[in-house]
Amino acid sequence: MIALGSDHAGLPLKKEIIALLEEMNLEYKDYGTYTTDSCDYAVFAQRAASAVSSGECERGILCCGTGIGISMAANKVEGIRCACCSDCYSAKMTRKHNDANMLAMGARVVGVDLGRMIAEIFLTTEFEGGRHQRRIDQIMAIEAGEILS
Ligand code: RB5
Repeated sequence: MIALGSDHAGLPLKKEIIALLEEMNLEYKDYGTYTTDSCDYAVFAQRAASAVSSGECERGILCCGTGIGISMAANKVEGIRCACCSDCYSAKMTRKHNDANMLAMGARVVGVDLGRMIAEIFLTTEFEGGRHQRRIDQIMAIEAGEILS
């Protein structure tokens, strides 16, 4: 199950991502927003990210104008590693090396075709593990309040 969230600015791109998920036969849950009325991205970031954090959804995709605000908000939710990407290489590497569990994109930054490509790569690329797991563990230790040595 893929968690989706956006604000009003990200809504058009989120609709494209929904079409992609349907083509890929992937189930999704859309945590809003559902209209173009101006709204606050943090609300929808928190709702979608909480679904990933709880395990209800395996991964999530978020859209706002730049992808930045909504990724910042998602990354405040425990267990979330949300990568804001506007290119295919970053999308691939954030799965392989960072085990990102959420992707954020900016509808005012990437076009529809690029956005769909980035999302497809994010959804189909596996984490490499190995030495990268140690680094993920360090990120999560920071979240837990530990001081890294
Ligand atoms: C909304 O105008 C815009 O600020 C928001 O979508 C996002 O780009 C913030 O990071």
